Amino acid sequence: MIEAFSAAEIIAAKRDHHVLSDPQIDWIIDAYTRGAVADEQMSALLMAILLNGMNLYEISRWTDAMIRSGERMNWSGLSRPTVDKHSTGGVGDKITLPLAPLVAACGAAVPQLSGRGLGHTGGTLDKLESIPGWRASLTNAEMLKVLQDCGAVICAAGAGLAPADKKLYALRDVTATVEAIPLIASSIMSKKIAEGTSALVLDVKTGVGAFMSDSKKAAELAHVMVGLGNNAGVKTLALITAMDVPLGLTAGNALEVGESLEVLSGGGPSDVVELTVLLAQEMLELAGIRGADPAAALKNGKAMDVWRRMIRAQGGDPDAKLPVAKENTVITALRSGTVLSMDAMKVGIAAWRLGAGRLRQGQAIQAGAGIEIHAKPGDVISSGAPLFTLHSDTPAAFASAQESLIGSVTIGDLAAGEKIDRLPLIIERITD
Ligand code: URA
Repeated sequence: MIEAFSAAEIIAAKRDHHVLSDPQIDWIIDAYTRGAVADEQMSALLMAILLNGMNLYEISRWTDAMIRSGERMNWSGLSRPTVDKHSTGGVGDKITLPLAPLVAACGAAVPQLSGRGLGHTGGTLDKLESIPGWRASLTNAEMLKVLQDCGAVICAAGAGLAPADKKLYALRDVTATVEAIPLIASSIMSKKIAEGTSALVLDVKTGVGAFMSDSKKAAELAHVMVGLGNNAGVKTLALITAMDVPLGLTAGNALEVGESLEVLSGGGPSDVVELTVLLAQEMLELAGIRGADPAAALKNGKAMDVWRRMIRAQGGDPDAKLPVAKENTVITALRSGTVLSMDAMKVGIAAWRLGAGRLRQGQAIQAGAGIEIHAKPGDVISSGAPLFTLHSDTPAAFASAQESLIGSVTIGDLAAGEKIDRLPLIIERITD
């Protein structure tokens, strides 16, 4: 086959700060996906993009080329409007678990293609796989059936969806090119647009435990993704939300499923409930559904009913006992006072070291491993009271998890009228 371009000329163009043309972008994505551009050439181009950037038009074309590398799903046959949520990920972020059935219980269809965890943030599929029997891989026909029958489906993206992103993401992971806004935005949005949802709410996390710790960068990423979604005909908005402190009181797969069940039973930690209800309201509004009351649907069991049907439809047993790690150890407070801060990143790394996360794609994880948090910023604690319970099947992991928790919590005395210095849960709402 005679190729339209050489990879080297495209790499040189980006190295020299030029804007890539549509044919150049279309060719490089297609040629890389079919194996005609080598990993070392694509690595050089990714690094040039990381260093020199892309303008909005280039990002949009790059995203479109990634969508065109595979199939685009279509849910137009459904009687309900489709809406999805994507989070850029954080420690203890289990929101998808209660949110998808909740939004379905309020009248929308939620086709949620999720991923696995890498590094200190967990993945939705890993969490759900701690439910005995639950299956992440569905055919498109199975996905449609679960969506029709239950109103929500959470499953793995099939091999046919944005295959260019699968190759590019694996390459970025090993070439230090994950952190480029054009590459992150195109990676996330190509999958979400190809997934076929009509509306999308993005939860872009910021703070020490987030992928984008700097809030200005998080807002920039959100603006780019909102633009990409709306230009592709997907009604899209973004919330910038806090990830300085872990979300809820658990980090780890089965532990987070347990906490999600509390939320679906009308209880659960207030930050998880608040964010779940707020995201549900945003999703329902974007989907054009008025008059639903997500907070009530958590309390009256309607969201739980959808959850149970959805889990069963994917082979899971909603009544099965969740896995529990073989060993646990408790870390106690060294002094009495108010918890002033808790570093989400340190807690995330500790959970990962306990076996809740993986270092490389494909590694096995422990379903029961992770951390229970007994006091959060603002809580008053006594010296010797439990602060964390660490869970693992491999007790040898406790020492390295404890090491990562050193300095993760500050306890002190609040002067009268003094407030805890932490990010508000919702920092900004971005609609264009
Ligand atoms: N998640 C993705 O899917 N892609 C990225 O580039 C980063 C996070």
